[in-house]
Amino acid sequence: MPPDKSILHRLLFLGSLTTSSIRIPIASPQSLSHDVIATVLALESLGVPIDLAEREINMQGIGRHGYRAPSHVINCANSGTTARFLMGLLAGQPFPSTLTGDASLSRRPMKRVAEVLANMGASIETEDRGTMPVAIMGTPLHGTNIKLPVASAQMKTAVLLAALFADGSTTVRESARTRDHTERMMAAFGFGIEPLGEITLDPETFSDVPEEIIYEIPGDLSSAAFMIAAAALLKRRLTISGVSLNPSRTRFLEILTLMGLELEADDIIEEWNEPRGSLTIYADRLSSPLQPFHIDGRDVPLLIDELPILMMFALFANGECVLRGAGELRVKEADRIALVARQFQAFGADVQELEDGIIIRGEAGRQLNSVPIEHGGDHRLAMAFSIASLFCDGPCEIPNAEAVAVSYPDFFEHLALIAGFDSIEVAR
Ligand code: S3P
Repeated sequence: MPPDKSILHRLLFLGSLTTSSIRIPIASPQSLSHDVIATVLALESLGVPIDLAEREINMQGIGRHGYRAPSHVINCANSGTTARFLMGLLAGQPFPSTLTGDASLSRRPMKRVAEVLANMGASIETEDRGTMPVAIMGTPLHGTNIKLPVASAQMKTAVLLAALFADGSTTVRESARTRDHTERMMAAFGFGIEPLGEITLDPETFSDVPEEIIYEIPGDLSSAAFMIAAAALLKRRLTISGVSLNPSRTRFLEILTLMGLELEADDIIEEWNEPRGSLTIYADRLSSPLQPFHIDGRDVPLLIDELPILMMFALFANGECVLRGAGELRVKEADRIALVARQFQAFGADVQELEDGIIIRGEAGRQLNSVPIEHGGDHRLAMAFSIASLFCDGPCEIPNAEAVAVSYPDFFEHLALIAGFDSIEVAR
């Protein structure tokens, strides 16, 4: 799998804050997601030395006070994580900065992060609609108690990054549990964090990490989810090794188990506080149809990136699948509820779009209509719809298929392996 995007973004940001030299083994620079490249370029423009070698990323931490004013506007491309983390990192710098992004990122909400950081003294302006460009003044920050208004790990991380530059300690309370990679990495690197229930960060107890950090990033379970889905529907047995098994990311596996799939995790080890292991999907043993799911708001933050592929699974479940409390899907890389409803209706499925979710009436073993795919440039929709297209009654054209590289450049090569095709041709 490609390296876990969430962990790699954090390693680049948090690593740059240390004074350590950091080595990150990679398969090749081409296997890195475009979102991660956006973070690399952003940090370079702030004066962080990063070298993308053939098999390794090398980075030198510059310490909390080493950032320099960027000479240009920082373009975060398609990456919401890059943009929100930068807002936190840059809010307390002694210089101003401006962030932009591509057309999709420019439609996504930024003001809610600016407003949360304002509680710490940040001065950040957005467009009237609360979107990019984002202008960050760079002001002194003070520690405070913050209750996050949205269950968002990106927002939580923005606050924790800003807290490193604040006068006094900051306490963050979440409205619902979200992925906890930031807290785990901050603890592993000796930042003054107490990640228990409420998260407290004291910048005064920031200590330096080992001189050299070698961090092998586990595989991305959110990318693996697409291959697990393909294997499940094609009834193959699949083993994925070295994949992240962080408990704040594995709710998807529990839902699949409830749907009737047999899964097994082995060889689990923990490095830098992050568990990883091998995951086997025994879809070859699947004897009865997949059971429908009911997902509500409590589960949504722990499943957020897996919801596109779970909606795709729903097409083939034995009955009605219901997803509620998922309004956040409307402000991801595209409006994921509207586009899924439209595409599934075109496939011939019975679907009801709700303001905060969707109802999908599944049919085990069904064939879908072969229709053009419309993913709106959203990488996860492009991947989910491509897998669904394996079950159409003829070929489907997938325009702008390179969109998958935002998180998973090797998606089509891996899908071809699982589907038993010699190759899948992607016109560029
Ligand atoms: C991410 C958090 C999630 C997720 C995104 C990555 C992260 O966003 O959708 O792909 O790495 O923190 P929100 O926290 O805004 O829901």
